[in-house]
Amino acid sequence: MLSGLVEALAGDGGRLSLLSRHASQRPGGIDCDYHDEAAFARALDAAIERNGPVELAIAWFHTLKIAAPRLLAQRVRGRMFQVLGSATADPAYPHRLAAAAAVAEGLAECRLRQVVLGFRVVDGGSRWLTNAEISGGVLEAVRADRPLSIVGQVEPWPARP
Ligand SMILES: NC(=O)c1ccc[n+]([C@@H]2O[C@H](COP(=O)([O-])OP(=O)(O)OC[C@H]3O[C@@H](n4cnc5c(N)ncnc54)[C@H](OP(=O)(O)O)[C@@H]3O)[C@@H](O)[C@H]2O)c1
Repeated sequence: MLSGLVEALAGDGGRLSLLSRHASQRPGGIDCDYHDEAAFARALDAAIERNGPVELAIAWFHTLKIAAPRLLAQRVRGRMFQVLGSATADPAYPHRLAAAAAVAEGLAECRLRQVVLGFRVVDGGSRWLTNAEISGGVLEAVRADRPLSIVGQVEPWPARP
């Protein structure tokens, strides 16, 4: 879903590292499973060895109840954009955004930004975002550099697909 974002950032001419299980299929890719704490830390360190300090991180994890988000935040020397699912904005659980932000707690060099993926209300119904909308929305959030960005909408919450 973030492929378009990767392509846009690559076009900016900076040095880019991609970390995922099958990332080595693409330039700058390093294979790793973020559930494997040691392997993820090694992959991050390999990326830093290759490209220098992490000035901008854009991170999607299916869960924050693993070590990987904190391992990344500990290595960021600039901004970290945390991409979050729509459930983070569920008004029934108002503490979720703050809980997610805890990955960067106490890390002076990691300036956390949050990007919540919402949905779209259309034609009397609603739908999830397309990959293009997600990549475009996260790119816009990076450019605008707000502490919190919503891609699409999370209100009215009962309209969530
Ligand atoms: N709000 C919305 O409208 C909306 C729309 C679409 C998606 N989403 C949310 O976004 C999530 C991701 O969607 P997606 O279809 O792109 O999901 P996905 O294909 O399952 O995973 C997204 C990325 O994470 C990587 N990844 C997955 N598991 C990994 C692991 N264990 N270690 C390292 N990297 C891992 C994948 O690459 P590798 O396969 O190379 O590991 C892929 O690049 C969904 O779960 C959904 O909640 C929201």
